[in-house]
Amino acid sequence: MAIEKVGVVGCGLMGSGIAQVAAQAGCQVTVREVSPQLLEKGLQSIEKNLTRLVEKGTLSATERDQVRARLRGTTNLDDFKDCDFVIEAIVELLPAKRELWTALDKICPKQTIFASNTSSLSITEMATFTQRPDRFLGMHFFNPVPVMKLVEVIRTIATDPRVFDEIVAFGGKLGKTVVRTSDRTGFIVNRLLVPYLLDAVRALEEGVASVEDIDNSMKLGCGHPMGPLTLLDFVGLDTTYYISNIMFDEFKEKRFASPPLLKRMVLAGWNGRKAGRGFYDYADPAKPKALQLT
Ligand code: CAA
Ligand code: NAD
Repeated sequence: MAIEKVGVVGCGLMGSGIAQVAAQAGCQVTVREVSPQLLEKGLQSIEKNLTRLVEKGTLSATERDQVRARLRGTTNLDDFKDCDFVIEAIVELLPAKRELWTALDKICPKQTIFASNTSSLSITEMATFTQRPDRFLGMHFFNPVPVMKLVEVIRTIATDPRVFDEIVAFGGKLGKTVVRTSDRTGFIVNRLLVPYLLDAVRALEEGVASVEDIDNSMKLGCGHPMGPLTLLDFVGLDTTYYISNIMFDEFKEKRFASPPLLKRMVLAGWNGRKAGRGFYDYADPAKPKALQLT
């Protein structure tokens, strides 16, 4: 089955990027948000990325117009009824995902393949919210989706191997390098990355060094493109907090436990770059100002 019509649920950081790369790869894409305002915000971020690509000469103005014509925004889940493939990139909370998959299972035809972009939830558990566990798998992209070359494709014990191979091939069509993995919490990347990010928060909490010095250490000492606290702001502190709780619940290991500072920042709504404030204040985005802990 060729994947031509793609549904993307959520048009936040990840959903907007997934919708963009799928439309650039020639798919007809419908992307859904919960409100017209959030949909507009997500579509504007895609538009900004496409404009940048045209300015750089990576995309011609005609190609941009073709990509735009393949992209359609909606707030109505019923618009997914003729999709070949639906990928979900909504908030990392199981009850929200359960409600979504239960509804989509009734709307989409039996052959539609379902994938979650979850960072840490169980793909097997989400598959049980549908009548199609054989056509359910994980497809985990990285932020920012148009730039990061990797996608993890995740099978469960119930995923049909032909469906798995089809989505591996689809990942290649989107221009990504695909790694194959199985449904173990955090898959490959987050199993290794999340304890590192949480340890950076613990180092800050313990007074090892300032926000800037922790970030500069990993950038200049280890050649990382971003320091861990900048990366946490980029990923979203709310998302990281949910991921850490899910991973701690699974493994019961301290390295996955959420540091108290992270929890408090999320409670305060300091969710990182998307909220204008996290370990840095982005009031002037060109000059983020580091958080000073007293
Ligand atoms: N969307 C689209 N394109 C973007 C972008 C965005 N949000 N941000 C930057 N870019 C593009 C720029 O246009 C630029 O493109 P060209 O090279 O073609 O000109 C390129 O990326 C580099 O951008 P900049 O020069 O502005 O900045 P940079 O060199 O610092 O790169 C970065 C930005 C690519 C984000 C880089 O800092 C980076 O790789 N950071 C680490 C990101 C990372 O680790 N992501 C994984 C997070 S973990 C995850 O996603 C999994 C999970 O479940 C939590
Ligand atoms: P985000 O907060 O930027 O966006 C989530 C969006 O989903 C919000 O705009 C919200 O309004 C929308 N939403 C919630 N319920 C919805 C529904 N029922 N229908 C349509 N839209 C709905 O979050 P994000 O960073 O894009 O993360 C989304 C998913 O991707 C999570 O599962 C997260 O773990 C995963 N993920 C995140 C990253 C990252 O770096 N942020 C990387 C890989 C995977």
